[in-house]
Amino acid sequence: MAQPTGYLRIKNIMTTVLVTGGAGYIGSHACVELLNANFDVLVLDNFCNSKATSIKRVEKITGKSITLIEGDVRDKATLTMLFSDHQIDAVMHFAGLKAVSDSVNNPLAYYDNNVMGSITLLEVMSEFSVNNIVFSSSATVYGFSDDKPIPETAPLSPFNPYGHNKRMVEQVLADISIAEPSWNIASLRYFNPVGAHPSGEIGEDPNGVPNNLMPYVSQVAVGKRERLSVFGNDYPTIDGTGVRDYIHVVDLALGHVAALNKLMQGCGLLTLNLGAGRGYSVLELVQAFEASTEQKIPYEIVNRRAGDIAIYFADASLAKQVLGWKTTKTLEDICRDAWRWQTKNPNGY
Ligand code: NAD
Ligand code: UFG
Repeated sequence: MAQPTGYLRIKNIMTTVLVTGGAGYIGSHACVELLNANFDVLVLDNFCNSKATSIKRVEKITGKSITLIEGDVRDKATLTMLFSDHQIDAVMHFAGLKAVSDSVNNPLAYYDNNVMGSITLLEVMSEFSVNNIVFSSSATVYGFSDDKPIPETAPLSPFNPYGHNKRMVEQVLADISIAEPSWNIASLRYFNPVGAHPSGEIGEDPNGVPNNLMPYVSQVAVGKRERLSVFGNDYPTIDGTGVRDYIHVVDLALGHVAALNKLMQGCGLLTLNLGAGRGYSVLELVQAFEASTEQKIPYEIVNRRAGDIAIYFADASLAKQVLGWKTTKTLEDICRDAWRWQTKNPNGY
C-alpha cells in the first residue's frame, strides 16, 4: 500500500531525544523544555544524585509522559538495548558527577564516570549511527582565565579533575567531528546555573551541606542553615566578594533546545558559552535574594575558599549569534524561583 504523502518527510524529522542524567537538576529542566517543544523524551539515569520523583514532576508540569530507564551510562549492554528498542535521533548528555572538591579526592571515580561514561555512550551512538549530541561542558574548562568576559577562544587551563574531565570529553568530541563530519555536536560551557522552574515543582536538590552559593542562601532563608559564610571580601571586585555569571536554569534549558534545533540543521561542531554575559558579586546576589523574597540572609565574611576565582563571566555573544538564544530572566526571577522551589520543597524531593 502506498504511504500517505508526507510520510518520509515526517519520518525524517528528529523527534526522540535520549536525555542522560535527565532526573538531575539541569536535565529535568531540559526535559520540560524538550517536551514543551514537542520532542519525545527518553531518560537514562542511575539516580546516583537524583530521584525519579523529578521525572514525575516534569510530567506534571508538561502534561506529557517520559520513558524512564534506570541504568548507568557506562553500561554498554543497557545502552545497546536502549538504542535497539528505541528510534533515537539525538542525545543530550547530562549524566556525570559534578562536585569539584570530590573530584580532587576521588579522581578515578570522576574519570570513570565522566570520561569513560561519555566514551561508552559515544561508542554506542556510533554503532547505531546516532550522530547528534549536546554535551554538558562547563566554564570550569577555562581555569584561571584573565579574560573578562571570557570568550570561547580563551585558553583552556582547567585545574581540577572535574575540569580535566570536561576538557577531555570536549576533545574527544572535537576529534570525532574531524574524523566523522556527519556528526553534529554542541559542547555547551555553562557558567553558574541557578534558580528553579517557576512552578516550584523542580529545582536543585543538593545532598547534605550545599557547596554552591544559591542553594546555600535558599537554605539559610528557609531556616535550615544559620548563616551564609561569604568566602572572602578582599577580591578586586565591586564589593570585594567573588563575581559570577548566574544563569537561570530555564534559560539554560532553552539554550539546549536552541542547540538541538541547530544540530537538526547539520551544524558540525559547536562550542558555546551559555551564560547571561554579566557578573554579580556574592553580596549583590544576597541583596537581590532579600529584596525579591523579603527574607533576611544573615552572613559573615570568612576566609577565601581555596581555588576560587575573583571574577568569572561569559562573553555570551557567540551563542546569540549562532543559536539566536540569549537569557531573558533576571537575577530577581532567579531568586524568586529558587525561593518558591525551596519553600514548596524544604527537604528537596
Ligand atoms: P545533577 O547531579 O543534578 O545531575 C546529573 C544526573 O546524572 C543525576 O541525575 C545523576 O543521578 C545522573 N548520573 C550521574 N552519573 C551517571 C551515570 N554514570 N549513569 C547514569 N546517570 C548518571 O547535576 P546537574 O547540575 O544537573 O549537572 C548536569 C551536567 O551539567 C553535569 O554533567 C555537570 O557536570 C554539568 N554542569 C553542571 C553545572 C552546575 O553548576 N550544576 C555547571 C557546569 C556543568
Ligand atoms: N560562595 C560563598 N559562600 C558559599 C558558597 C559560595 O561565598 O557558601 C561564593 C564563592 O566564593 C564564589 C561564588 O559564591 O565567589 C559562587 O560560588 P559557587 O560555589 O556557587 O560557584 P563556583 O563559581 O565556585 O563554581 C560553579 C560550579 C562548578 C563550576 C564553576 C564554573 O559549582 O562546578 O561554577 O562553571 F566548575
